[in-house]
Amino acid sequence: MMKVIAVLPQGLEALGAEELSLFGAKDIKTLKRCVSFEADMSCFYRLHLRASLPFRFLREVARFYCSSPEELYLGVQKSLDWSEWLPPSSSFKVNVTGISSGFNHSHFTALKVKNAIIDLQRRLWGERSEIDLNTPDICVHIHLSNQLVILSFATSSESLHRRGYRPAMGIAPLKENLAAGLIRLADWDYQCPLVDPLCGSGTLLIEAVNLALSRAPGLSKRFLFKGWPDFSESIWNQEKDIACSLEKKEIELPPIIGCEQDFNIADNAMTNIRSSGLEDKINIKVNHFRDIDLPSTQGLLVCNPPYGKRIGAEEDLSNLYRELGLFLKEKASGWDFWILSGNPNLTKFLRMKANKRVPISNGGIDCRWLNYSIR
Ligand SMILES: C[S@@+](CC[C@H](N)C(=O)[O-])C[C@H]1O[C@@H](n2cnc3c(N)ncnc32)[C@H](O)[C@@H]1O
Repeated sequence: MMKVIAVLPQGLEALGAEELSLFGAKDIKTLKRCVSFEADMSCFYRLHLRASLPFRFLREVARFYCSSPEELYLGVQKSLDWSEWLPPSSSFKVNVTGISSGFNHSHFTALKVKNAIIDLQRRLWGERSEIDLNTPDICVHIHLSNQLVILSFATSSESLHRRGYRPAMGIAPLKENLAAGLIRLADWDYQCPLVDPLCGSGTLLIEAVNLALSRAPGLSKRFLFKGWPDFSESIWNQEKDIACSLEKKEIELPPIIGCEQDFNIADNAMTNIRSSGLEDKINIKVNHFRDIDLPSTQGLLVCNPPYGKRIGAEEDLSNLYRELGLFLKEKASGWDFWILSGNPNLTKFLRMKANKRVPISNGGIDCRWLNYSIR
């Protein structure tokens, strides 16, 4: 069994734990912005292929105590058989998180770890690895906490929220994993119509459809564990085949509609939808939301309007929220509505009372995923 950490959006830790458990993770502990768990090799690969919420995975390979940079240097060298994991032909980088007394500068700590590794390599082989900050072969992750050092290997150099379908982004787009989490919290049944009246570059709708189709987000990702000494090609291929076979290509979906009043941003949404191969499933209307007609059967509305923190001043936006409230009451009676609010001063202009409020951090902004039943 491997000890692993999944890094998650703040507020989605419990949902993330549920998803990991569904795919077979064991001994799951929910922490702040992450979940720790154990996994065998099949489960480890399955999670990378199919989990939709984590930003990244870190596999713990050693832990030790140290109280000075010199002890850290020696601890890193002794913590595992580096000759097996990091030959000089492989590049690497070092990331540091957490704090511990005597280690106030993460840059300095990373440098100490890097020197420990390359000095050891020089001793073993007479040569050293290159440092590659963008596409390294090995990502060494050091977490410090009260003199405890946890040394892990990250399984990807870039964040897994980047699914790869989004070359075009509007203003303040949601991260794809956060959008997937919001859709899961909204509990869309894949049967009723789904509408985003302020869809921007379409992230909520694309993630919703990907969930409905059971598409595995990790199928086309570059994972660093393929270069690890214990990588099992056969288990990977087995899990990959299963992940591919689960996609429900032929499923009939209800109407899925996005509305965006800015022509260029709507065009971004269409580009993203096409690059996800979902052009026959999601329909984008270039309109003010007040001008769209909703399907006659009741459904689910989700949205992420501007909050006035990053885009649009608060005053200008009060009208938008007021109009949204009126639109919902006039046109969406009986629908379920979820809104990601980063500004309670604005949500009050909806003039409705929320049933549920889920705290979520969206890129550092303290938000609430609010649910309303429209009467
Ligand atoms: C925060 S962004 C949505 C981002 C989106 N969730 C994404 O991931 O790209 C809000 C969007 O609402 C659009 N918008 C603002 N007022 C609108 C209106 N009255 N009708 C339709 N769209 C509007 C803006 O142009 C902007 O693209």
